[in-house]
Amino acid sequence: MSTVASPGLAASLERLGTETAFSVLAQAKQLEREGRDIIHLEIGEPDFDTPRHICDAAYGALRAGQTHYCPSAGIPEFREAAAEYLSASRGIQVKPESVLVGTGAKPFLFFTILATCNPGDEVIYPDPGFPIYESAIRWAGAVPVPLALREEREFVFDLDELAAGLTAKTKLVILNSPQNPTGGVVPADEIAETARLLAESSAWVLADEVYSQMTYDVEFASVASRPEMLERTVLLDGLSKTYAMTGWRCGFAAVPEPLLDPLVRFFVNSTSCVPPFVQHAGIAALRGPQDEPRAMVEEFRARRDLVVAGLNELPGVSCVMPHGAFYAFPNVARVPIGAEGLAHRLLHEAGVAVLAGTAFGQVGKGNLRFSYANSQENLRRALERFGELLARL
Ligand SMILES: Cc1ncc(COP(=O)(O)O)c(C=O)c1O
Repeated sequence: MSTVASPGLAASLERLGTETAFSVLAQAKQLEREGRDIIHLEIGEPDFDTPRHICDAAYGALRAGQTHYCPSAGIPEFREAAAEYLSASRGIQVKPESVLVGTGAKPFLFFTILATCNPGDEVIYPDPGFPIYESAIRWAGAVPVPLALREEREFVFDLDELAAGLTAKTKLVILNSPQNPTGGVVPADEIAETARLLAESSAWVLADEVYSQMTYDVEFASVASRPEMLERTVLLDGLSKTYAMTGWRCGFAAVPEPLLDPLVRFFVNSTSCVPPFVQHAGIAALRGPQDEPRAMVEEFRARRDLVVAGLNELPGVSCVMPHGAFYAFPNVARVPIGAEGLAHRLLHEAGVAVLAGTAFGQVGKGNLRFSYANSQENLRRALERFGELLARL
């Protein structure tokens, strides 16, 4: 062993969090290698293949030599297609020059926070919420201000609590509807009120709307639909969820003018650009036939109904009906071993991989997240195994 001292790591790493879904996936895969049968309900990605015509567009672009660097902001044709999509789906006018493309939606979360926040600035974000928000806020040295999403309000934040959280130090407000991990969707009238409140504040807004096309019995509404909100809102959407393209890494956002150059600079400093053949596939996704994504949402609706009904039959478990995305967030507080213990035993004893609510913040500490992006047959088997485990406790 070397006697030379280790070079050591950056102190800032202590502030960098993670996404538990990936570590539970790794554990589950290890168990599979050991011969165990695991039902995967931990990772947040559609289990469908990317539609054929989208793959064909990528093959065509590859053959046509679209394999080089391209502008960091995105190729003009993609920016036009994304601007059309954002305009049509939010009822607004987004200019192609306002659209940036990134390697997934995720870099926009990190870079928007880095581009707007100084140490000590406050950032309001949902709790429970996508864990990257808090990780990036802390890494920037900003102050995380959780906004609770409670079960009794179907995981929609309370407007009075949002208003109370806004201070002179609030630099950024992060909203996410439809929501990960709860499946909650903010109703249109509350979105309108939220937009009114935020339009009067001095904060930037990051509207994470990557599940915009996945709602069931309610209408999707965006804070960016209020005209003056575009001046302060990074309106984020992507291809990952809507078109089953998680591995392609392609997200996009309408970005306020003062943030365009800073975000492009982050892209130049990190990934350079999104591969042009991926952007050509993206154009085919956004402008091509929409029957496959629609059919996928219908299948998710059937799975949601199956999972929520099944969970509500289990002793000690209750689950409110999620209205969007593909997650259920059952309350297991009455099960004596706690949500984290239950998630652990579900994986190791029952072969069902799920996440504990604490992976998403403290407010979800009595819950589990079930990603129902799996077949109805596997969902039935998972519910059966969950029931058997509960009977053994
Ligand atoms: C709320 C939310 N935002 C952003 C992302 C990241 O999406 P992408 O795969 O496009 O980077 C996810 C992925 O799970 C998510 O749930």
